[in-house]
Amino acid sequence: MEISANTQAIAYLISAILFILALKGLTHPASARRGNFLAMIGMALAIAATLMGGEVNSYGFIIAGVAIGAVIGSVVAARVQMTAMPQLVAALHSFVGMAAVLVAIGTYLNREAAGTLNPLLMGELSAGIIIGAITFSGSVVAFAKLQGLVSGAPVVFKGQHALNAGLAIVAIGFGVHFGMTESMTSLILMTLIAFVLGFTLIIPIGGADMPVIISMLNSYSGWAAAATGFTLQNNLLIIVGALVGFSGAILSYIMCRAMNRSIINVVFGGFGSDTGAGESAGAQAAQKGVKSASVEDAIYWMEDANKVIIIPGYGMAVAQAQHALKEMMELLEARDVEVKFAIHPVAGRMPGHMNVLLAEADIPYENVLEMDEINPEFPSCDVALVVGANDVVNPAAKSDSSSPIYGMPIIEAAKARQVYFLKRSMRPGYSGVDNLLFYQDNTSLVFGDAKDTIEGMVSALKGGGH
Ligand code: TAP
Repeated sequence: MEISANTQAIAYLISAILFILALKGLTHPASARRGNFLAMIGMALAIAATLMGGEVNSYGFIIAGVAIGAVIGSVVAARVQMTAMPQLVAALHSFVGMAAVLVAIGTYLNREAAGTLNPLLMGELSAGIIIGAITFSGSVVAFAKLQGLVSGAPVVFKGQHALNAGLAIVAIGFGVHFGMTESMTSLILMTLIAFVLGFTLIIPIGGADMPVIISMLNSYSGWAAAATGFTLQNNLLIIVGALVGFSGAILSYIMCRAMNRSIINVVFGGFGSDTGAGESAGAQAAQKGVKSASVEDAIYWMEDANKVIIIPGYGMAVAQAQHALKEMMELLEARDVEVKFAIHPVAGRMPGHMNVLLAEADIPYENVLEMDEINPEFPSCDVALVVGANDVVNPAAKSDSSSPIYGMPIIEAAKARQVYFLKRSMRPGYSGVDNLLFYQDNTSLVFGDAKDTIEGMVSALKGGGH
């Protein structure tokens, strides 16, 4: 069944509204599920309206592509661990980038054969190819770093910024030449240089800056999609591309602000280090007399506390300790202990990581507070329980101007009466920086997998405590 251009335009408009409502829904954990649902309806409507729009010549390839993609997508979605989500997102961004490049080249070849190229289209094609190629190779590097296929450490060398600026100028130069002459050679050179540029732009970034880069690549993938929308004259793709482009850019800005860094500083900074780098620091730390404690010690303080604030981090996700934490929260609340969760904007490995896991365990939203809301409560808090978090509570961010995380706002766990860290070893967090909070007088470390430790606490509380 074929629908008219007007019907298709109305369907696209409804899809666009659904996408905007979806973004609105995703701004709060309580409405995120509804937001996702609206986005799914919007996308289904958009796909149906496109397929029925009369531009399709043959359905064979499309059906084959959808079938293969659906099988691969379902298997990957079912198997991926929550902790591997950032690299999955990076891989998906690379597909968007490559699609933009291929659509632009395909359009060029078709329109050249038909003799219908025009200057505006040539400009759109150049923009689509450059943004798409940078998105592709940049995302591949980000994927490789996050997946541990290559070192996550920044690769910095002299003249790097000049090289990147030079590559960008040459790529744009070939783009302009391509636009003016329709030269295939310029097209190929522009594409190759943009691929190299994506690579050289992302290799100097590592460590704690990776989340910002992922959201920036998300933004690029939106712009690549918007450029494809112009090429294909598809209004919905332009709208959706712009929504993704802007929301990715806003998210990057918010994350930079959360880390107290400028986006320029992140992109050109070559900051961060690999986790392995701090291992020797960890070994030294053990000799410096860091206190270790048992589950019973921690429970002793917690069950008589007025207020316990739990700071979850990446380790909670690794250990999948959220359900055990919910049980512990209920047991403490039954003893009139006020229990709250403190969420740092870059805790875990992706935006909203902690919120998603706590929501999965049905921890009430009113118990979950963002960093700025909860920080004033630490001086009146009896126990700060740091569950698999590290960088986000490291006071070096405030006191050590030579630290790579200097300037990043942190959760003020250090101000609580007692601080307990649940972690497996003395290893540092993602940024590879030793944590000064380990050495504070009122801090103790309870070593072990976070889930096992919390389950131990739960049984201690059930069994009447210590
Ligand atoms: P991290 O600083 O990475 O610390 C995580 C801690 O969890 C580690 O010290 C680790 O110590 C511990 N851990 C790991 N597995 C554990 C387990 N099974 N049981 C108990 N503990 C375990 O985490 P964070 O405080 O959440 O900070 C996030 C960091 O990641 C920031 O530097 C941030 O910039 C970066 N980052 C964030 C994102 C986003 S968007 N949120 C994305 C990429 C990177 P042990 O090994 O000793 O157990």
